[in-house]
Amino acid sequence: MSAQVTTRWAVMLLLPLALQAVNHFKDLNRLEDLELLGLVQKDTGVAEKHLLLGFSSSACEQSVRGLGFPSEYSVLGEHVETGEVMLDRNTELPGVYNISSCNEYVYVPRGGRTREDYDVIKAVDKLQLHNWLFTHLALTMEVINDLPFDVSIKWEDTGRSQAPQDLISIPRGRTSSINTFETHHLRFVSHQPGSEPRQFLRVRVDGSTNTLRLSDFLTEEANQQCLNPQDCGAKTVTTLPNVNNQHGSTDDVQLVEEDMNIWRGRDVENKGRVVRNEVQPKTKPRYTALGFKKTRIPDAVYQVLLNRYHSGEHILEPWPKSDCHTNFFEAPSTMVYLSDAEKADIFSGMMPNLSKWAGGVKLHPTSCYGIRIYHNGSWLREHVDTGDTHIISAIMNVDQDVEEDWLLTFIDHNDNRHFVTLEPGDALYYESASGLHGRPIPLKGKLFANAFVHFKVV
Ligand SMILES: *[C@@H]1O[C@H](CO)[C@@H](O)[C@H](O)[C@H]1NC(C)=O
Ligand SMILES: *[C@@H]1O[C@H](CO)[C@@H](O)[C@H](O)[C@H]1NC(C)=O
Ligand SMILES: *[C@@H]1O[C@H](CO)[C@@H](O)[C@H](O)[C@H]1NC(C)=O
Repeated sequence: MSAQVTTRWAVMLLLPLALQAVNHFKDLNRLEDLELLGLVQKDTGVAEKHLLLGFSSSACEQSVRGLGFPSEYSVLGEHVETGEVMLDRNTELPGVYNISSCNEYVYVPRGGRTREDYDVIKAVDKLQLHNWLFTHLALTMEVINDLPFDVSIKWEDTGRSQAPQDLISIPRGRTSSINTFETHHLRFVSHQPGSEPRQFLRVRVDGSTNTLRLSDFLTEEANQQCLNPQDCGAKTVTTLPNVNNQHGSTDDVQLVEEDMNIWRGRDVENKGRVVRNEVQPKTKPRYTALGFKKTRIPDAVYQVLLNRYHSGEHILEPWPKSDCHTNFFEAPSTMVYLSDAEKADIFSGMMPNLSKWAGGVKLHPTSCYGIRIYHNGSWLREHVDTGDTHIISAIMNVDQDVEEDWLLTFIDHNDNRHFVTLEPGDALYYESASGLHGRPIPLKGKLFANAFVHFKVV
């Protein structure tokens, strides 16, 4: 390592486009002297994101720690471990950037791998740096509104405290281009007929894609949320508390350890689900062309369900804490439990119709449960059901009190996502082990009561 160098540090920036600044390759030997190239490659192999590296003196480090980018760039600091210096995730970088104390910057574009991909710029001035960032953070995105309702988009700069700004509205089925910036958040507001607009999706622009197909993003976001226990209802943060801190009573520590265990359980459970969602649909036999059909519940079965529903007691449903494919932790579901006799009636009432729908296969009853009542705010990630027993299935809607349709999504055998509305008395026949299904948009309303029946093919 060069003797002139007292400090090495790196600021990771999320910049969208390939670098177009003037190249100064004469400086690159110096780069290698500093092992900075190795530093970048050690972390990522190739630069997975655009990087801005500054180095030289400790004064330079000081000034970069107080980076005074205009506020739209103030969330640029991402947690990046270089082995020597870390900047905290989402560090706000206030203060005045004293550019004169740094004498070199290295720009590494996303995907940068060889020396030729790197640029070293000497003593850029603040305006030039600002312009460079502005140019490279800006991007145009195509937004495909394939949802069954109109959406409007607001943008938000997390570095500022101002309210989200209106950007554009996109009618259902239409595609629009928007101009935006990496690091901004986009808020998607749904306009469903007869209902107040409401936000249902928030997306951070990270430059990884120039296309947003909204229905895909619904699921991606839900999966991400469930892989991040913090978004999934866990109360505490990643680190165990210091037992010597002011709250370090034994009780607190046990509470947090319990939460940590829930977290770990969810992590394992949910990674398993994501993998199953990817793999299982391709491995299961298919019995119908599309994998689903909306129809009515046979009268006799509907009567059984209604009788129970109107006479039964609502009981809080116990969900395992390690689960979060539904948000029971913030919108607990209740159950009006079916008796064994009622389940038998439902099995026998549904089996002939489901068998016929599935091409005349012989069915064997495996599971019948409900009546589950979902409440305001409930959502359910897209998932496939247990692969051995839940093959030919039906969802039966018994009752609902909603402000807008609570849309069920089903991904058919041709990989097209459908949005299905069920009214009381409606049933959805579906191949539950091979067709992803869920309700990723939260329920808006008082309740939605469903019963479920599953068969395997013998
Ligand atoms: C900026 O950096 C230079 C060189 O290190 C130093 O002389 C000057 O005092 C600094 N200015 C401010 C405002 O910190
Ligand atoms: C169920 O099957 C019976 C007997 O074939 C038929 O009469 C009835 O219409 C079917 N019901 C539904 C809802 O498909
Ligand atoms: C559902 O929750 C939302 C958000 O908290 C609230 O605005 C709405 O009034 C609730 N609706 C019902 C029917 O409780």
